[in-house]
Amino acid sequence: SLATTFLNHTYENPFMNASGVHCKDTKELNELDNSKSSTFITKSSTSLKREGNPEPRYFSVPLGSINSMGLPNEGFNYYLKYVIDRQQRMPKGNPAFFSVAGMSVDENLKMLKAVQDSDFNGVTELNLSCPNVPGKPQVAYDFDLLGEILQKVFEFFTKPLGVKLPPYFDFAHFDTAASILNRFPLVYVNCINSIGNGLYIDIEKESVVIKPKNGFGGLGGEYIKPTALANVRAFYTRLNPSIKIIGTGGIRTGGDAFEHLLCGATMLQVGTELYKEGVSVFDRIERELKEIMEKKGYTSIEQFRGKLRTL
Ligand code: DHB
Repeated sequence: SLATTFLNHTYENPFMNASGVHCKDTKELNELDNSKSSTFITKSSTSLKREGNPEPRYFSVPLGSINSMGLPNEGFNYYLKYVIDRQQRMPKGNPAFFSVAGMSVDENLKMLKAVQDSDFNGVTELNLSCPNVPGKPQVAYDFDLLGEILQKVFEFFTKPLGVKLPPYFDFAHFDTAASILNRFPLVYVNCINSIGNGLYIDIEKESVVIKPKNGFGGLGGEYIKPTALANVRAFYTRLNPSIKIIGTGGIRTGGDAFEHLLCGATMLQVGTELYKEGVSVFDRIERELKEIMEKKGYTSIEQFRGKLRTL
């Protein structure tokens, strides 16, 4: 079985969407909720509705994706109402995940205070790694700011909270980030957001493929799997065991999922491939992961989670 215990709930499997993909409105969220994913996360919200960047702003290629959406979203209240309504409809249902990505420290604090004061009893994700808003550097690349914001959040926030991190590329950064995160009662970190500010080119047209930021955008898909696995592993081996890891980045097959689990991930998020295939991607990846486990003689994920071998 693929049963996965995360916080106080046992989900049927570890799979869910990556925030941003298939979660911008109630129709897409309902489709996820009715799919073989075990739960879902809402599009990162800002206090007020945003149109986001000009189109085209998402582009798929065989090995991945590039996006510079610019946080188009229906606004904080829309998504909070969705998850609370669902809770009231299904009081025994799986806890959902709710993502916030304020444009400033104060906007994040304001939204998290409203979550704290609401009836929401699921999991909140603070996104500290959006690479796509011109003039707004990724919070999690500024270690002083990362510590300051978490300090302020945990002065009042007592519900389960995780953070979405960008990829890091240096052991000094893994060490510093982990030592900051370990000071707080986070329930998880989600590794990784897109690799920020890549550039895809259409040779024929001698042109970039997305309009915002002269074509620069966050990379997803197969291109980023080794970076995602490195970040999952680096944080799994550095964080307090009470801080779980959500693995995100390059999960297209059951094999990719297996690799993330070996690195120590608990839940697994699918972005680029969900965009490509739609919600039936979850049926396929679950079947493939089960086949791998059966071949290897594993009957539960716990038997191999985190047990990556070194040479
Ligand atoms: C967007 C992209 C991200 O990678 C993210 O974490 C949040 C928002 C966006 O462009 O909408």
